[in-house]
Amino acid sequence: MSRDIVPERPPVYHLKEVARVCGIMGYVGPREAAPIIMDGLRRLEYRGYDSAGVAVANGSINVRKAEGKIVRLAELLDEEPLKGTVGIGHTRWATHGVPSDLNAHPHTDPTGEFVVVHNGIIENFQTLREELEAGGAVLTSQTDTEILAHLIAEEYEGDLATAVRNAVERAEGAYALVVMTKREPRKIVAVRKISPLVIGLGEGETYLASDIPALLHQTREFIIIEDDELVTLTEEGAVVETIGGEPVDRQAIHVAWDAEQAEKGGFEHFMLKEIHEQPTVITETLGGRLGEDGTTWLEDVEFDDEFAQGLETVWITACGTAYHAGLVGREVFQRVLRLPTMVEYAHEMRYADPMVKPGDLTIAISQSGETADTLAAARLAVERGSRMLALTNVVGSTLSRYADDVLYTRAGPEISVASTKAYLAMLIGQYLLALRLGVARGSIDRQRAADLALGLARLPAQVESILEDESSIANAARAIVDADDIYFIGRGLDYAVAMEGSLKLKEISYLHSEAMPAGELKHGTLALITEDVPVVVVVTQRSTYDKTISAVQEVKARGGKIIAVAYDSDTEIDKFADLVLRIPETDDLLAPVNAAVPLQLLAYHVAKLRDHDIDQPRNLAKSVTVE
Ligand code: F6R
Repeated sequence: MSRDIVPERPPVYHLKEVARVCGIMGYVGPREAAPIIMDGLRRLEYRGYDSAGVAVANGSINVRKAEGKIVRLAELLDEEPLKGTVGIGHTRWATHGVPSDLNAHPHTDPTGEFVVVHNGIIENFQTLREELEAGGAVLTSQTDTEILAHLIAEEYEGDLATAVRNAVERAEGAYALVVMTKREPRKIVAVRKISPLVIGLGEGETYLASDIPALLHQTREFIIIEDDELVTLTEEGAVVETIGGEPVDRQAIHVAWDAEQAEKGGFEHFMLKEIHEQPTVITETLGGRLGEDGTTWLEDVEFDDEFAQGLETVWITACGTAYHAGLVGREVFQRVLRLPTMVEYAHEMRYADPMVKPGDLTIAISQSGETADTLAAARLAVERGSRMLALTNVVGSTLSRYADDVLYTRAGPEISVASTKAYLAMLIGQYLLALRLGVARGSIDRQRAADLALGLARLPAQVESILEDESSIANAARAIVDADDIYFIGRGLDYAVAMEGSLKLKEISYLHSEAMPAGELKHGTLALITEDVPVVVVVTQRSTYDKTISAVQEVKARGGKIIAVAYDSDTEIDKFADLVLRIPETDDLLAPVNAAVPLQLLAYHVAKLRDHDIDQPRNLAKSVTVE
């Protein structure tokens, strides 16, 4: 189904929480606002962004914004300073529209009297845009945020809070939205739905930010704004109400963390923080894209049904963790589309003279969108006439610019070198693509599509429940921390997950580890299995369960220690495994999402026991831009 039938679209699964992506700052008080806002934005830099901007109210609203790093914005402010003691600022990680000066926040309405910054995604962006344009509005950027500035200006009848209330009533999705107007110049109004927002309280001055670290050096007294609340800031403090206008009596909290702890959201490492963000990330990747009946709306995926119907071969190309995501994709596409699907390491594909032909679809997967090998393989596929779809986390990345179609994973900036949340988002992206193509081709019936949609929508809560049981995974880590070698096995989708589990362990624990299909063990590697060699088996796939258990028995017979990743409902596995890491039951096709999570945590806890630099493992870089 294409976007042409949007009016008939069934209900979408709504976002529950949004990854903490963009940075927001606000200030009202006696001091100059711009330096305070810039300082806060710099403290949010670690989260990643691609443009930044500031607006200050001083008789009129004045805005400075620039694509690129904050230093560019600082240069702009040096050339043309902003004077005034009320202001808002933003660092943007692009979601709608590429990174550019024009798309950077803040955004104003056409009169320039209302200015907004926004974190989150407006799901009915397209409909609102069309409504505004039908009424004669001229939108200058590609963002969903500019629309909010127009709506607020339209709704304004003398009270900013009321205008914001009425405007957000028309918007669906997730937002932390911060607004100023020249008409009420000593005031900032902000509203939160899902995306985070905190208020900092000073002496005769009040701050606002998307996260505590931005403000920790200014104050330690905070008010946390909850979902569906509206807050009005003046220098006297903050008045919190529900979005419906009921007063809220919210006590301030005292925050004792240091700035480094705060950046990691209280987690010891970015990797652990990012693992814990995964329920949010899945929700975000699915947000606004999936209907209850399995219909998908994938903005920037532009091929039509005819292309999907004529497709003969799918190619997936990537490196490292992204390649492992592709291994899952291969199984999923083959089963859902009944089409040959090749998955190739990008550095191999580019030299292998692959039989890519016109009319094929090549999916290039890359978190960064800048991996040199992946770019080269994607180019080769395009040269051979294939359509190329980029599945990437970075809006405006080289890969996305080069692609015919793009599906952004929306995982938010990933700081830990070892990839976790980006991998899970890549899996979700491929399920969405499989539904998109499968429904168009008629290779999946509507009931099955609806079942998969429901299964996908349940994943955030299921991953959350795995994260709640971290202690049993930490126990398993103790059981393998002293091993010299470790093997990961599984069949089909379980093998794909085993590959990723093994890589995670290698990267951060420096343990020698290998993954292989469970059936391959007896063809050689079994010679290495002794009682000192742990074997991690992923065993979720019902169709091959007994076969995998045979491999497990081969290991047991040699005294090997078995750690299994298995469904909660699997009682059989207790007979064979020394330790079982439990995951909630899903449709087998979706099991990789849940099964990957205990393996990420296993790697994390082994590395922690070994006292390694988890976020910056030796010899590795986050983005591999050399060939
Ligand atoms: C492993 C890891 C790497 C990357 C690989 C590709 O944790 O992060 O294996 O997956 O270098 O990077 P991207 O996805 O940016 O193309």
